[in-house]
Amino acid sequence: MIKKILVIHGPNLNLLGEREPDVYGNNGIDTLNSNIIDRANEQGLECEIFQSNHEGAIIDKLHSARKNFDGVIINAGAYTHYSYAIRDAISAIKIPCIEVHISNVDARDAFRANSVIAPVCKGTISGFGFGSYYLAIQALSEM
Ligand code: DQA
Repeated sequence: MIKKILVIHGPNLNLLGEREPDVYGNNGIDTLNSNIIDRANEQGLECEIFQSNHEGAIIDKLHSARKNFDGVIINAGAYTHYSYAIRDAISAIKIPCIEVHISNVDARDAFRANSVIAPVCKGTISGFGFGSYYLAIQALSEM
């Protein structure tokens, strides 16, 4: 039974609400985070949220999660498409990790259709706006 989850937002997601609102919506990361906490608590989960624009900081956070969390939800932003280092960190920690994207990455630029982290994640949820995170919380709570 999963008890404590970690949500990681990768690069540029701190600019939600300002950044390409036609793609990512008009709401900011504070709204997203407060909704995430509410949804997690409704499912009986404790939740910590972390955002970084730096690959190494995301890797350090994944490492530190391995003893303290039961599941991870990660939106690795553009690192999704080329960071073998984040992929290896997810693989190393052996706790279930769900990949999420706000936009439908398969319906955009060709380079976004490839995720190097997908093979080491339990699954991927993409294209449901902020709802992608809420669906991932639901999925973790049922695992
Ligand atoms: C994203 C999709 C990525 O391709 C992009 O680089 C992001 C956000 C999403 O949530 O839709 O930064 O991960």
